[in-house]
Amino acid sequence: MTESTTDPNRGTPGRPQQTDTEQVLCSVNVDGNLLIGPAGKPLIDFLEQHRIDLPHVCYLPSLGPIETCDTCWVEVDGELQRGCALTLKDGMSVRIDSEAARDARHEGADRIVARHELYCSVCENNNGDCEVHNVVERMEIPYQRYPYKEKPYELDDSHPFYQYDPDQCILCGRCVEACQNIQVTGTLSIDWARDDPRVLWDGGEVANESSCVSCGHCVTVCPCNALMEKTMVGQAGPLTALPESVKRPAIDLVKRVEPTVGFKPIFTLSEVDAAWRESEIKRTKTVCTYCGVGCAFEMWTRDRTILKVQPVEEAPVNGISTCVKGKFGWDFVNAEDRLTTPLIRENGEFRPASWEEAYALIARRFLEIKEAHGPDALSFVASSKCTNEESYLVQKLARAVIGTNNVDNCSRYCQSPATQGLWRTVGYGGDEGSIEDLEGAELLLIVGSNTAESHPVIATRLKQAQKHRGQRHIVADLRRHEMVERADEHIHPRPGTDLVWISAMTKYILDQGLEDRAFLDEKVNGLDEYLDSLAPFTLEYAEAETGIAAARLADLARQIADAGSVCAIWAMGVTQHVNGSDVSTALANLMLVTGNSGRPNTGCYPMRGHNNVQGTSDFGAMPGRFPGYEFVADDQVRARYEAGWGVTLPKEKGYNNHTMVQAMHDRKIRAMYVLAEEMALVDANARHVQEGFDQLDFMVVQEIFFTRTCEQADVVLPGAPSVEKEGTYVNTERRFQRLYEVMPPLTGCKADWRILTELAQALGADWDYQNPSEIMDEAASLAPMFAGVSYDRLEGFDSLQWPVRADGADTPHLYLDGYPFEDGKARLYPLDFHAPSEPVNEEYDLHVNNGRLLETFHEGNLTHRSRGLRSQVPGNFVEVSPQLAEARGIKTGSLVKLISRHGEISVHVLVTDRVAGNEVYVPENATDNEHAINMLASNHADKDSHTPAFKEISARLEVVQVEGPAPLPADNFRFWTATPQSGVLTERKWQRQDYVQPPAAARNPEKF
Ligand code: SF4
Ligand code: SF4
Ligand code: SF4
Ligand code: FES
Repeated sequence: MTESTTDPNRGTPGRPQQTDTEQVLCSVNVDGNLLIGPAGKPLIDFLEQHRIDLPHVCYLPSLGPIETCDTCWVEVDGELQRGCALTLKDGMSVRIDSEAARDARHEGADRIVARHELYCSVCENNNGDCEVHNVVERMEIPYQRYPYKEKPYELDDSHPFYQYDPDQCILCGRCVEACQNIQVTGTLSIDWARDDPRVLWDGGEVANESSCVSCGHCVTVCPCNALMEKTMVGQAGPLTALPESVKRPAIDLVKRVEPTVGFKPIFTLSEVDAAWRESEIKRTKTVCTYCGVGCAFEMWTRDRTILKVQPVEEAPVNGISTCVKGKFGWDFVNAEDRLTTPLIRENGEFRPASWEEAYALIARRFLEIKEAHGPDALSFVASSKCTNEESYLVQKLARAVIGTNNVDNCSRYCQSPATQGLWRTVGYGGDEGSIEDLEGAELLLIVGSNTAESHPVIATRLKQAQKHRGQRHIVADLRRHEMVERADEHIHPRPGTDLVWISAMTKYILDQGLEDRAFLDEKVNGLDEYLDSLAPFTLEYAEAETGIAAARLADLARQIADAGSVCAIWAMGVTQHVNGSDVSTALANLMLVTGNSGRPNTGCYPMRGHNNVQGTSDFGAMPGRFPGYEFVADDQVRARYEAGWGVTLPKEKGYNNHTMVQAMHDRKIRAMYVLAEEMALVDANARHVQEGFDQLDFMVVQEIFFTRTCEQADVVLPGAPSVEKEGTYVNTERRFQRLYEVMPPLTGCKADWRILTELAQALGADWDYQNPSEIMDEAASLAPMFAGVSYDRLEGFDSLQWPVRADGADTPHLYLDGYPFEDGKARLYPLDFHAPSEPVNEEYDLHVNNGRLLETFHEGNLTHRSRGLRSQVPGNFVEVSPQLAEARGIKTGSLVKLISRHGEISVHVLVTDRVAGNEVYVPENATDNEHAINMLASNHADKDSHTPAFKEISARLEVVQVEGPAPLPADNFRFWTATPQSGVLTERKWQRQDYVQPPAAARNPEKF
């Protein structure tokens, strides 16, 4: 276990940043003062640490030097240089206060003001953060030296989420750098050759007709109001809502006065305005509610209006990064159809009820059912959207109040097989290291993970590593998604055969003596038995089963064995099969055989899907385990919880999500409590699940919208989304982060932890939690794995990765000191191959792959309520290969039925070469039975974890009508080609005929 890092740079994306401790110290002279600092540190960061002011506009630590703004000149050894491009060197002498440097900086600032109209009091960006305003003020630029001239371009508001105003753009290039080198999408550029340079989208002038994936990086880093979230427009300040007909004359009036009075009095006015805004606008740290990456950011609000999401550099996971959902996907919070009162079903109809009445009814029915059929007739489903504290309460409610271990969460639908594979081999059911380890690896093996759409901010880090540091990516997937397009090697195994090719590569490595023998001897058990189990997995057998040539597999195996450090990444393409646990285990075996574990930049990294799917299991919402993964069957552990909770606890493992469904059909489960889980559509064989709900005597759903699952409830309780409560989440790297209450629960709703507390009271328990921190304290006191977790240690953007010792030391990388087995050694685990269920045959001749889309999340109950996201992906569809489309006489827009052995759906066709042959792809993007992919899924499940085999669907296709509307709009990013380049290409600016290096005055300053 390693000590927790306190380095604020840890986890900050962007250019590699060395920690001070890794560096050699050197001395530098700044304006006559001798200072000591780490060699190689960026000068501006160093000066800021010492509170020495060097103006700068285009520099941002996460982006590195761009060198466009010319406001940071210093003299080094008598020569003028841009300060942002300098790093500390021993003996360096820097003059900030020389006249030449000051003149050069002033000239740079004058040129910026020539490009940007200062109308701060009516500007959305007048919030203290505007770098243009701040630099002009800090440098005491007295007046407009070069006249401002409008650009020959219109404001572009074509994009659903942001607008670009060329008139305000200072051509700093931050947006381009972010798009090209942080997001690595490569949409933005500046055409330095034009008379009037401007930002371009794929070389064009319309933002929404481009490859832009709406990640928002460019908007986040823009130093002024040139790129602006649309949610800010007209909302940000008291005067920003003025109509243009009033605003423009007001600006013109001020501009007429300005030459006589200078900037100062006008800035004073804008500061009053900024202070006014400051008092009204609340900035609250929260954590994204969508995927398991765990991006944290500040949310800016005025009352219940969400003005914008602003990522900050100190966020440990994402720094300045977000994806479209985290940055822009929050309309659902204030959606008109939020549930705002408890509902009780009466004579087949729902009617509003008071909380007291709802609690009393639930308590009465639960206790009646318990009395009549025993505690195991009740079951509880926790939510991976909710907090750790809420998951803890759900399992405590089930175990301590009702007396059953029938409690589970939706990791059963995705991650349980990965956890199983890790438990078998390396010991802990979590990612071995941190995202930084993924970034630092020499080679990544990415299997069944559409990382760019399902875990977008992790994908940006991987793409950065590939682009900037030559990281190699071997990607195995059925579909040509972005990670495949960018892969160094791509293989397309036959569906369901991953175990074969992974095991064959491992066998080849061992047969050829390419394994890490010293690592195996010292740190791993079970090699002999494992070797025996590999006997069938020859390369030839693998070629026959998977369709991948033996020579190709041998070559890939050598690449993995030869690489200095390898991480394996996988996701639902691996886990949602009948052998999901075994394939996860096979990947862990491969990492162990090649010595890729127990050291930095190595290990296994199953990507956790939901924001808190890791934490919900961590906090005991599982049928056989308490918080921290201790067994309910362990007498000593149970005794600890019995003492802590003051009750007797059940010993037998309960039903999991999947087995609960059959138990409902068999009338073994009579009542169910579902917390924020669209179980009616996201479990496999959805019709079978819905029929199971019909069998229940009583069902409670706690939700924020009236979902498909609510339709079958007897009582519906209105809970609260993440921004309306406090708590913690655990992301895919085992990292705890705190979320703060951005706004109080919508009138009529309650935070879910409060509802659970009040319900437990109604059931007779003496729960008295007043704040989620008390729940965490209790969990930490009972679960050794979280002994040192507390809200104090998670203040602000601080985070902890489990296990966390009582003294607060956390574990960014597991296994550095051995594996959590008795002898400290990892274990190789022998495996057999089990063929996939329901393979294609003559009747069901298509393999139906399925998964996420960038712009939607899971079934879509949240993302469908975002107008912008909905405009990008209006509904569900099926991706069909050009070959299949031709064979069936269909085209983009055709309406087809997909019919499996278990159900059918109707969807429009999108013809694309992302899929091949008779493999089709249906996103999980539907909130009704007519379009939801899981209507097609079977009851087959992973034999070890009971995770449904969602990825093993075969179906036939029937054409309903050939002509129809295209399922995605023409401006969807998938239809455009990016324009990647190395960065801002600032040298092209300097090469322009009309560029004169400051301090000389430019002849045509407005051109810069
Ligand atoms: S992909 Fe779009 S939103 Fe993201 S940085 Fe590029 S242009 Fe901006
Ligand atoms: S739009 Fe881009 S180039 Fe223009 S000011 Fe903003 S970040 Fe700089
Ligand atoms: S959805 Fe995932 S990647 Fe996107 S902002 Fe949220 S946590 Fe980050
Ligand atoms: S901060 Fe140095 S040129 Fe912009």
